[in-house]
Amino acid sequence: MAGTITKRGAKHKTTPKTGAPHTSKKEANPMWGGQFASGPAEIMATINASIAFDKKLYAQDIGGSLAHCAMLAHCGILTRKEAAAITQGLKKIKQEIESGHFTFKESLEDIHMNIESRLAELIGDVAGKLHTARSRNDQVALDFRLFVRDALEKIDVQLQALQASLLARAEQYAVSIMPGFTHLQTAQPVTLGHHLMAYVEMFGRDRARVQSLRERMNESPLGSAALAGTSFPIDRVMTAKLLGFAHPMANSLDGVSDRDFALEFLSIASISAVHLSRLAEEFIIWSSAPFNFITLSDLYTSGSSIMPQKRNPDAAELVRGKTGRINGSLMALLMTMKGLPLAYNKDMQEDKEPVFDAFAQWQMVLSAMTGMIQDFTPNVKRMHALAAEGYSTATDLADWLVRTLKMPFRNAHHATAKIVKKAADKKCLLPDLALADMQSVEPRITKAVYGVLTVEQSVASRTSFGGTAPVRVKEAIKAAKAKYL
Ligand code: ARG
Repeated sequence: MAGTITKRGAKHKTTPKTGAPHTSKKEANPMWGGQFASGPAEIMATINASIAFDKKLYAQDIGGSLAHCAMLAHCGILTRKEAAAITQGLKKIKQEIESGHFTFKESLEDIHMNIESRLAELIGDVAGKLHTARSRNDQVALDFRLFVRDALEKIDVQLQALQASLLARAEQYAVSIMPGFTHLQTAQPVTLGHHLMAYVEMFGRDRARVQSLRERMNESPLGSAALAGTSFPIDRVMTAKLLGFAHPMANSLDGVSDRDFALEFLSIASISAVHLSRLAEEFIIWSSAPFNFITLSDLYTSGSSIMPQKRNPDAAELVRGKTGRINGSLMALLMTMKGLPLAYNKDMQEDKEPVFDAFAQWQMVLSAMTGMIQDFTPNVKRMHALAAEGYSTATDLADWLVRTLKMPFRNAHHATAKIVKKAADKKCLLPDLALADMQSVEPRITKAVYGVLTVEQSVASRTSFGGTAPVRVKEAIKAAKAKYL
């Protein structure tokens, strides 16, 4: 064990990570005030600091501070002059960060204290007045909420672009017939357009979840202060409005300790990733040589270093693979939140990385999938030919017996099974089976039965709402365009 003196009776005298003595040569964090004589142990500084990842929140942090400062001035808690100095300083810091001239310090722990400390360097003591009636607890809750709100808006745009690509391809292949599967066994013929439209619906539900979370989470924690609110005469409605929130959160304890919005974000990401993964899986199967339903171009595939014939669907595999990682982020944050007493606990600093990572991965898989949808070439002839195999119109035959001969469906099912067996014995498809062979099973069958046995006839007949008939698919595309684009 690194840093442990193992001799019996000896104490841990060194930090586990570096072997450095437990005492600290560092100065105490000036933000803490006089209570701390020494700085943290090296490992304490490392485990405690979040700046490496929460610097991503600089714009939200400065935006929140600007609103807080304006409100403090409006309520007479700061003078106009003080507020002006703070505002100018904050804007300068934003420029410094964006131009790469800001030095982030781990010793200042997080983005909030890095910015406040720099503000003091720029404008002096008055910087300290910004934190009046505020705590890092409501500050971080606010920053993170603003980040997630923005992320939801970006994701919605990407989901819409994915839907647009699916719709364009669905339109192109609204009448192209392919096998529909259950249990990955040929079931009934469908159209490729119909199949793609199923995903338009799934991503539509993802978007509905995104939009509903956007609305539900749009309330401001700012002004909850450390946990109990503040004795200063602040105006929480004003800061809420300035930051685009519908209203302030009703309970200050909840305000600083709620991370539902992050959990919901991750669960929506997880469900959406599962949708993407299912589509990716279909592309992987469809592009395999035995299926040969589609070809993915050079843009989204890779070759093998040993097998020259291979074209591997790597992008689709990674869309499928990253689903595990995104769902893992949801699990991570659920476990972090479980059992936390009210209100803020430092455990909650662990909320950001899973969300940042899941967001980045979600964006990436959405882009990759949108690209593949635009890119793939279906092997329309082969899909059509395979749709006719496996007696995929057997249900149409059974339905004909029910409709024309008024047979109970169960009896029709059994008769059809016998006819299918006959066709299999003769090694032919149902439309090619002689009438006499069918009549040997059910004498009342007439040649009119040949009106329902081809895949074209089958697909065209499924005109129920939501069905695969090209007329319905074209209507569905039109409706989805109006609803989603
Ligand atoms: N870095 C902290 C976080 O990300 C900010 C809030 C810290 N609050 C505190 N009282 N230590 O959660």
